[in-house]
Amino acid sequence: MADGTSETPLASIYETGDEAALEAEYDKWSDSYDADTAAGGYRFPFLVAGFVARYIQSLDAPILDAGAGTGLGGESLAILGYRNLTAIDLSQKMLDRAVPLGAYKHLERMKLGDALGFEDNCFEGVISTGVFTEGHAPTSSFDELIRVTRPGGYIIFTVRDNVYRDKGFQQKQEELTAAGRWKLVEKTEPVRAYTVGEPHIRGFFFIYQVV
Ligand SMILES: C[S@@+](CC[C@H](N)C(=O)[O-])C[C@H]1O[C@@H](n2cnc3c(N)ncnc32)[C@H](O)[C@@H]1O
Repeated sequence: MADGTSETPLASIYETGDEAALEAEYDKWSDSYDADTAAGGYRFPFLVAGFVARYIQSLDAPILDAGAGTGLGGESLAILGYRNLTAIDLSQKMLDRAVPLGAYKHLERMKLGDALGFEDNCFEGVISTGVFTEGHAPTSSFDELIRVTRPGGYIIFTVRDNVYRDKGFQQKQEELTAAGRWKLVEKTEPVRAYTVGEPHIRGFFFIYQVV
């Protein structure tokens, strides 16, 4: 399953922090990702659309889906009418699955944690689901996501609960607040990622507004 369970080949890679191996595993998983996660009732990329609709009114707002994977989040937003979506992901094969959905205007392989190839302030919103989890994108991703989001724009993402506590996410997120880079608008209780199985996999939804 997505997001760090012990029952997939990904689980061992989460521990190593080996990005090349993670990318290769997602490349391999791309064909069955949608079916596997649907079987478990994975719901983060669908729930995120509700938060976008709550905070971003313009359907033309440029929105970045960071770690878009196969495009489940972008497709949800497209169904709601959002039509200026960009997808980035570490795995080209995951992005290749998103292309035929027609939800994204732009799709590009990019790595969170590296400098992103976008101008400052070019997005009005960012979404990211299932990406801030064991052994995936680092806390430094937020600096670039803030840079590319215009002041007043929203960054809406999940962080797995144990990763938030134990892997420096809480500290980093609070540092960015203290530094006046963003302000916390909303934080949920830990939400189950899957409705069918894996009750231990939970993540917070965070909504920050860029200052
Ligand atoms: C569990 S999937 C989530 C995909 C999609 N957001 C969803 O909710 O279905 C995690 C995704 O994060 C991507 N990923 C992991 N580390 C990344 C990084 N450093 N930069 C960009 N994407 C990354 C993986 O390739 C994978 O597509």
